[in-house]
Amino acid sequence: MNKTRVAVNGYGVIGKRVADAVLLQPDMELVGVADVVTDWRIQSVAGRLPLFASTDRARDEMLQAGLPVAGSLEDLLQQADVVADTTPKHVAADNLPRYRQAGVKVVLQGGESHATTGHSFVAQANFESALGRNMTRVVSCNTTSIVRVLGALQNANLLAKARGVLIRRATDPWESHLGGIMNTMVPEQSIPSHQGPDAQTVLPDLDVVTIAAKAAHTQTHNHYWTIHLTRAASREEVLAALRAAPRIAFIRMADGLVALNSTVELMKDLGRPRGDMWEVAVWEDLVTVEGDEAYLTYQVFNEAIVVSETIDAIRALTKTAPDAETSMRLTDRSLGMSQDFLGSSD
Ligand SMILES: NC(=O)c1ccc[n+]([C@@H]2O[C@H](COP(=O)([O-])OP(=O)(O)OC[C@H]3O[C@@H](n4cnc5c(N)ncnc54)[C@H](O)[C@@H]3O)[C@@H](O)[C@H]2O)c1
Repeated sequence: MNKTRVAVNGYGVIGKRVADAVLLQPDMELVGVADVVTDWRIQSVAGRLPLFASTDRARDEMLQAGLPVAGSLEDLLQQADVVADTTPKHVAADNLPRYRQAGVKVVLQGGESHATTGHSFVAQANFESALGRNMTRVVSCNTTSIVRVLGALQNANLLAKARGVLIRRATDPWESHLGGIMNTMVPEQSIPSHQGPDAQTVLPDLDVVTIAAKAAHTQTHNHYWTIHLTRAASREEVLAALRAAPRIAFIRMADGLVALNSTVELMKDLGRPRGDMWEVAVWEDLVTVEGDEAYLTYQVFNEAIVVSETIDAIRALTKTAPDAETSMRLTDRSLGMSQDFLGSSD
């Protein structure tokens, strides 16, 4: 079987994780990574992965810095079937003409708009509609979690509507010295916040409203939901619907996982690369159901959750897996994903 040749443009928080995840896939080959910086962020790649320069200026600067530049972005694209563009918000959209010229398929990230690709992707919700397309956009970390959790309840015919509050991390840990907020909370300036409407780009029938705020920490996002069910249901039915969906894991206060930092620490103790958690972690013992209303809270590891989706998006565009289940099985096994970190249901 020919392996799908993947290029990663933008070796940052998401890009470096996507590159490492591609290396783990039995049906993919990482042909190289491209970026524009010359410091430790890209020096760590030297000698480990083929490194390309995304711009002419970056090429000069990389050569001056003694980095082993294998060529330009165009040279990289020539060797690739698909590019995962993980550059910062709005940079990716400007790269599209270069990708079109090279004739590669394109996976963008949530910083870009739905209109840029005309298709937004979450593997378990709409893998099939991306089959053979030229491009798609993996939705943001928050939106991915919403689609996974509300989609699970929708699939069980339990979801009437959902209203959620999102407490977001201030900035990513690696750039905490550059900005981020301290000693305050900053509400987003409009209601609904963009994540609810964004989830509707994947699941158009969702009745969802989100309100969001930024908190003064870097340790992942935390969502709180009030969910109106289609009928009175038991707590066990709601748990069963969540358990039936992939990429949702249960965590428990009773296990001492009482805060965002506890889970972050657990991922490191489990030996996960970079301490990553690709699953949405729902607090099982907090799931509460009263008549036709359910309440729940979960944690979203923003730096990692979209990595598994990006791998599946590559398979959908290249039609190298026929359906979501086949692709997700490969991805989840290769990454070591689990639905119960401390239990036996791996
Ligand atoms: N950080 C998160 O938690 C997170 C979560 C989900 C989705 N996303 C989305 O993923 C995308 C990437 O975000 P990120 O957080 O990884 O960004 P980042 O800033 O960590 O990484 C971006 C990388 O792209 C490089 N870059 C900048 N300009 C470039 C150019 N012209 N050509 C090539 N490389 C260039 C930067 O040097 C950096 O290494 C965005 O769309 C973002 O919205 C981010």
